[in-house]
Amino acid sequence: MKLTDELYERGKSQKSICSVIDDDYVLLHKKMPCSDQDLDKYIKSILDAKKEGIKMSGVTDYRLIPGTTHTFGSISYTSGVFIEERAKGISCPENPCTYLSAKKEYDYDAVANDYLTSLTQYIEMLEYKNSSPQGTYDKLVSDITSIINYGICIDPKPTNFFYDKKEGYTIIDPIPINKYANDMEYYPHYVMTIVFGYGCPYISGNDTKRLIPEDLLIRLKNAQTALINKIILALKKNNFDDKNIKDGVSETLNLNSTNIEVVDRNDLSRCIQEMHAKQKSLL
Ligand SMILES: Nc1ncnc2c1ncn2[C@@H]1O[C@H](COP(=O)(O)OP(=O)(O)O)[C@@H](O)[C@H]1O
Ligand SMILES: [Mg+2]
Repeated sequence: MKLTDELYERGKSQKSICSVIDDDYVLLHKKMPCSDQDLDKYIKSILDAKKEGIKMSGVTDYRLIPGTTHTFGSISYTSGVFIEERAKGISCPENPCTYLSAKKEYDYDAVANDYLTSLTQYIEMLEYKNSSPQGTYDKLVSDITSIINYGICIDPKPTNFFYDKKEGYTIIDPIPINKYANDMEYYPHYVMTIVFGYGCPYISGNDTKRLIPEDLLIRLKNAQTALINKIILALKKNNFDDKNIKDGVSETLNLNSTNIEVVDRNDLSRCIQEMHAKQKSLL
């Protein structure tokens, strides 16, 4: 798809980075992680990687916005309007934490309801991601490691990866190769972050607890275990060593399995209120 004058103007004035043009394309107004001179090379690297079968979204047309190049030390950014292939599916929620301030009052039923909704959505996301066979995870691991061969690497933020049952995982927003790109010891952890995001929703106060109804805890553990097994097997198939895999996986698991407290759904609002009362008493 080509960037018309009209799309350029629309992109330049849009408030968010990304708006959807149609099923297949998005309009981006963003900073790309390179200088003006290196931009063509950066875009071509993505196309080359795609040609070789790596699943990522390519730019089909763009215009730079004059005077917007910035350089900080060795890092340059250039701003423009881009048309990019739309990555299909879902990405992880960004922030799993509901923070309760000791200085504020809350409607605990509403907090409990919102929390239960995001908890359920998170578990449904894992169940959906688990609906793909082993091959999808083998490909994810091989894609995120082999794009290094094209002079680019992943930016491992969970929002830079989309998942769709049919399409598998799609990479967006890669960065030019940096000093960490070749350090394979980081990759098991990256895969965990891509799949699980920043973890299961929780309520945070002074006394952070993962309150969770029993039926949801069972579903969470089932989906987690199945996905972790696929990830471990995929890492093994891609020749990662066992210690490296174990460290990367247990780091994420520990993060998610501490302070779990099984709670009856009907009791959730009261538990949150208690937790908040304790927090307020410490003020
Ligand atoms: N090709 C794409 N397909 C679908 N969504 C996209 C695409 N590019 C960007 N987005 C959406 O816009 C968000 C921000 O874009 P991104 O390129 O990741 O910029 P940055 O991480 O620098 O803020 C992404 O997290 C994603 O939700
Ligand atoms: Mg991004």
